[in-house]
Amino acid sequence: MTTGPGRELLRVEGLTKSFGATRALDSVGLTIHAGEVLAVVGHNGSGKSTLVKILAGFHTADHGVIDLRAGSGEPTELRFIHQDLGLVETLSTRENLGLGGGRSGRAWLPLRTAAERRLARELTAQFGVDIDVDALVQELSPAERTIVAIARALRGWDSGRTMLLVLDEPTAALHGAEVDRLMAVVRRVAERGAGVLFISHRLDEVLGVADTVLALRNGQVAGHLPCAEVDYAGLVELVAGKAVGTLERRAATAGDPVLRVRGLAGRSITGLDVTVHAGEIVGLAGILGSGRDEVCSMIFGGRQRSAGSVELTGNPLAPGDLRSAIRHGAAFVPGDRHADGAVMTMTAAENLMTVRVPGTESRWRRISKGHEAGEAATWFATCGVLPARPAMELSQFSGGNQQKVVLAKWLRTRPRLLLLEEPTQGVDVGAKATIHQLIAETAGGGTAVLVASSEAKELAELCDRVLVLADGVVTAELTGAELTESRILRASVPA
Ligand SMILES: Nc1ncnc2c1ncn2[C@@H]1O[C@H](COP(=O)(O)OP(=O)(O)OP(=O)(O)O)[C@@H](O)[C@H]1O
Ligand SMILES: [Mg+2]
Repeated sequence: MTTGPGRELLRVEGLTKSFGATRALDSVGLTIHAGEVLAVVGHNGSGKSTLVKILAGFHTADHGVIDLRAGSGEPTELRFIHQDLGLVETLSTRENLGLGGGRSGRAWLPLRTAAERRLARELTAQFGVDIDVDALVQELSPAERTIVAIARALRGWDSGRTMLLVLDEPTAALHGAEVDRLMAVVRRVAERGAGVLFISHRLDEVLGVADTVLALRNGQVAGHLPCAEVDYAGLVELVAGKAVGTLERRAATAGDPVLRVRGLAGRSITGLDVTVHAGEIVGLAGILGSGRDEVCSMIFGGRQRSAGSVELTGNPLAPGDLRSAIRHGAAFVPGDRHADGAVMTMTAAENLMTVRVPGTESRWRRISKGHEAGEAATWFATCGVLPARPAMELSQFSGGNQQKVVLAKWLRTRPRLLLLEEPTQGVDVGAKATIHQLIAETAGGGTAVLVASSEAKELAELCDRVLVLADGVVTAELTGAELTESRILRASVPA
């Protein structure tokens, strides 16, 4: 912050909220001033989204004060981007951006459509991406959807009114350069006098953009301080309660080829060849639009291929035949758990059991409640799902814990091929280390792992080999000493 704090936009005092026996927020207080970027950090389930949902009026607090007129008489206008983005999947980007935006009833429909299209293009272009604004949101990649949600929240933001922009993990699916671009937008919003409250698990990005940080632990404030007074290691300790080590990977002893992909082509990808051996972890890096996001789902069979062949231990995998892919030992943790990873209205345990273990659990026999409970106890402990309440509906778990349930579901099948997209999106630093360890152990047991991630650092730590994609083709293959975060980032930029 170069100038002193502006006027107070929001004051929260003694905010408390319980869900049954869970105290999600316990007497939380905070302030945000005009021009200030406040980052809210904390472990999965620490109460961050609950705070945002109370501000949004989605939940009612049990106690506490929320003062939006703190500085003067004029109330602060709040704008939100929630963790699940809140887009209507079956409408286009253009329509999503037009939603709730004071349409004029007298406007001619075609004119309005053309105007909306122009506005939609302008808004998404701010992020330097070329999104087809007439395509349905469900056809966009997770990162593209994030950008649409952000564009929608920012619409008209420079209208001169006092505004507080609230973002719940806006960057979970974005890659290095995309995160930087978004963070630049966040800073610009603050420089123009708005306040920004944003939630993130990427602690390095927090320190790069925020003025102040609020750390929550089990619903309580563990720290509220200027970013200048804390470094990365300090922030990790505030969140995790301890220092977190990095993964030590032994070099893989490459086994037999498990996955063989030849000439794969799709929306962005053209002619991809990749072989993954037993025990090997291969990464897919690349910026938004590079094709990184589509490879795993094309291999698994959910996404159409325009050309190419996929073989899993010698068995051809046909597009659309997910059942046979699973039978041959494939598992797929998708990047968008809301769209295809999980059923929010089922319990966590039911979600765990939606995929049968090939060879041991018959598709025709009912799963007994006892078996389900046993499996849930084992796998949720392994993956660190909290609270340990397998009978709770998935929607009631925090975002990071939902991600752990999806991961547990697929690890349970003891796959020969594990396809992962953004495996640690939304999970806290401590849980991330646990998940990396789990993936490494799974590979250690002879599974072939292919992991697509927007986080170069994650790939550099986790993988034996990384393929960097740009404009749909492999531009670099990095192993050994060459496999570093900066090399991945450099190779990701299209020529
Ligand atoms: N509707 C609900 N019903 C029951 N419990 C809930 C509900 N919403 C949240 N909780 C619980 O409240 C606690 C805080 O959840 P919250 O979503 O605020 O966490 P979070 O800090 O946003 O975590 P994450 O980083 O994983 O998104 C968790 O234990 C969660 O399971
Ligand atoms: Mg959350």
